[in-house]
Amino acid sequence: MKKLLDLLTEEMQQAFEAAGYDKNLGKVGISNRPDLCEYQCNGAMAGAKQYKKAPIMIANEVAEKLSGTTVFSEVDAVAPGFLNLKVSESFLCDYMRRMSEEEKFGLEAPKKPKTIVIDYGGPNVAKPLHVGHLRSAVIGESIKRMSRYAGHKVIGDVHLGDWGLQMGLIISELQVRKPELPYFDDSYTGEYPVEAPFTLSELEEIYPTASGKSKVDEEFKAKALQATADLQKGKPGYRAIWKHIMELSIADLKKNYEKLKVDFDLWYGESDSQKYIPDMVEKMKKDGFAYISNGALIVDVATEEDKKEIPPCIILKSDGAAMYDTTDLATILQRTIDFAPDSIIYVVDKRQELHFEQVFRCARKTGQVAENTELKFLGFGTMNGKDGKPFKTRDGGVMRLSSLISQITDQMYEKISGNEALSQEEAKETAQVVALAALKYGDLSNQASKDYIFDIDKFISFEGDTGPYILYTIVRIKSILNKYREQGKEISMESLSAAQNASEKALVMELCQFNSMMESACEELAPHKVCAYIYDLANAFNRFYHETKILSEEDEAKRAGWIALLNLTRDILECCIDLLGFSAPERM
Ligand code: ARG
Repeated sequence: MKKLLDLLTEEMQQAFEAAGYDKNLGKVGISNRPDLCEYQCNGAMAGAKQYKKAPIMIANEVAEKLSGTTVFSEVDAVAPGFLNLKVSESFLCDYMRRMSEEEKFGLEAPKKPKTIVIDYGGPNVAKPLHVGHLRSAVIGESIKRMSRYAGHKVIGDVHLGDWGLQMGLIISELQVRKPELPYFDDSYTGEYPVEAPFTLSELEEIYPTASGKSKVDEEFKAKALQATADLQKGKPGYRAIWKHIMELSIADLKKNYEKLKVDFDLWYGESDSQKYIPDMVEKMKKDGFAYISNGALIVDVATEEDKKEIPPCIILKSDGAAMYDTTDLATILQRTIDFAPDSIIYVVDKRQELHFEQVFRCARKTGQVAENTELKFLGFGTMNGKDGKPFKTRDGGVMRLSSLISQITDQMYEKISGNEALSQEEAKETAQVVALAALKYGDLSNQASKDYIFDIDKFISFEGDTGPYILYTIVRIKSILNKYREQGKEISMESLSAAQNASEKALVMELCQFNSMMESACEELAPHKVCAYIYDLANAFNRFYHETKILSEEDEAKRAGWIALLNLTRDILECCIDLLGFSAPERM
């Protein structure tokens, strides 16, 4: 379905043409004087030179041609030659009715749907999820949902960090603690135990201990590095430990992501790219791209035009171990083989920008990726505390994601439990739903690339630009719709009627922006645009609601029209929050 602004432009272009002018002058834009008009066209100003005529004369002639228009309710030619426009209420009503009938409220499918792989989440196994992983999960999930809604084929991949030094550290520390285990006996040929020799919480203690030790104990570090290389080479005992770690870790990660309403199509990790590494490396060598420098195998990626230094990609360390660069390169190759994607999008902390610059250059240079595949780094900013420094626990440690979620859920419960209409059970469930909205909206309403302040008190507020405010608005609409049904009436979109006052028209105009907003939000991978839109929409609805007695309106047609308007508003708000990755409760 065409966008509203395009329809207005078409109407204006016809008028320019009818008046004998170039139709391209008839471009309509949003008014920059909303006190005077809703839309405007500056084409007469632009045409003055070309036609050697005073702009106001052109504007008058064009306005004349629009005298019988059903699209505009007002067309004013004003000095020195602007066309000030108001759109007709009945035209808007028709547009809105069509929106309500169309799939996706009139958002058009892409001309050529793309295959897109989104790399997000990126947790490291054996390490608990911390707040640093929150943004990737929240933003990535929303971009996945939006791109899918826009009509693309989208594959979300968690890309676990499961092949690096942390694995060698855990293996080495385990060997120190339990050297008698069969995993460390090179002559052992039997089956390894099914049960892991550690629990998840032990694992979560083993890793930081080992990591700390490696920083002060050179010998231990060397062992861990060796274990990492041996694991990658496929040493059976180490692979068996690795499998235990993966099983425990992934089960826990899945639980946590589920709480966040984040889900992945693929649970691949760095390790899954291992099978592509030997051939990839061979080819890089054979093609003359990879060479040995200081014992490591590297590929230069710097170019003459570089303003800053771009270090080479490290493909293999001197001990033969694969690096972060290596697994990312082989993963690009893997994705190219598996999906031939049009685009691979990485939703990762922007502090990793240089790493991706190197990897992308190397992938292109050495041919791991098809020429027409776009590699896109969507770097996000840091989540800071109120002090403007990276978010920490009170004692300065790294905050676990699960603690953060419980904290915000508890605070929300406290707020909501004041509502006596809710049972304790319902209040608990509602608190979870609303807390998730607070958390996600608080994040997504900021442009992803910017740092932002994580301010729980602000995020959980029911007023202002917050998730709970949006949910509160939806709940308010739902309650009106329920009461209407209780009056024994059915909601019919046929009842939509032309707006009768300013606040109603403002609400309708917001609704009619949906497809145009969604198209650009999806194209620009910008969930914050969806947030800004629903905030405006919720404000427009609340203004209308405060000025209008809906349920007690005596004129039945009027009442039914407003109810249909509310129904569409609710549908659009719920569609948008679903794309942001949260939902609304029935009551709150
Ligand atoms: N595991 C990494 C980290 O915690 C993030 C992974 C991002 N994705 C990627 N393909 N490198 O820093």
